Amino acid sequence: MTAQLIDGKAFAEGLRNRVSVLAAQFEQKAGRKAGLAVVLVGEDPASQVYVRSKGKATIAAHMASFEHKLPDTATEEELLALIDRLNRDPAVDGILVQLPLPAHLDEQKVISTISPDKDVDGFHIINAGRLAVGQEGFVPCTPLGCLMLLKDRLGDLAGLDAVVIGRSNIVGKPMAQLLTQESCTVTVAHSRTKDLPGVVRRADIVVAAVGRPEMVKADWIKPGAIVIDVGINRVPGAEEGKTRLVGDVDFAGAKEVAGAITPVPGGVGPMTIAVLLRNALVAAYRNEGLPLAMGAL
Ligand code: GUN
Repeated sequence: MTAQLIDGKAFAEGLRNRVSVLAAQFEQKAGRKAGLAVVLVGEDPASQVYVRSKGKATIAAHMASFEHKLPDTATEEELLALIDRLNRDPAVDGILVQLPLPAHLDEQKVISTISPDKDVDGFHIINAGRLAVGQEGFVPCTPLGCLMLLKDRLGDLAGLDAVVIGRSNIVGKPMAQLLTQESCTVTVAHSRTKDLPGVVRRADIVVAAVGRPEMVKADWIKPGAIVIDVGINRVPGAEEGKTRLVGDVDFAGAKEVAGAITPVPGGVGPMTIAVLLRNALVAAYRNEGLPLAMGAL
């Protein structure tokens, strides 16, 4: 192995600790805890696990957690009424509606009902626009977490060639915008890209967010490049009936070529909740008009 391992788990733990300290200070100053509301519609088992861990992490970070569960028969009207109440509740600084929603609910409409200043997921079109023009807003948690890992490793990213594989609204597009803001030369690659291996080979930074197990091969990686693997794919394991998690990058091969690489699990994954807590705390400070030294987070 030549690559250094980027320990997202340890970095996320550090971030959560910093958030926790600042959340305790927030309580002292504001006379209340910073509050994060999480809305879950339906019984999707993976979503239930995510929501439970978000609630636990929120409480561990010295913030108030408000969980709202609606049955999968909930109407759009009921869901929008709940969001409206949370928008107006001064104890709630951040609102997250767990996705995916049941098929009869229009995700875009639901997200657009969340107040942009409580949209800690950064999915509201206003926050997407703020990111696009470089205004302060909320940035989606996973790409912001990837950027933190990159800056921790590399410091200044200016002038580096970066390839983002995947163009989703949640990861690929905001990731490309963050890297552009850092003065990288950014290519957004996707399923229709011609000569994807050739495009990836030019990159000093590779962010893989396509959701295809081990698609990015070792011989696509420029020696010494930094590889951030956002993929979390469950594939059949070595033993019958068992599964294992793999990323979008062939880790075993790529770690022999890259300068540094995130493992799966333990790389980008733990960053998402840590950044969510960070965004919720930032929302709380903003909502109370209290100053927060952004360098602290
Ligand atoms: N479902 C899977 N990941 C996420 C996330 O980051 N935010 C929301 N709202 N739903 C998700």
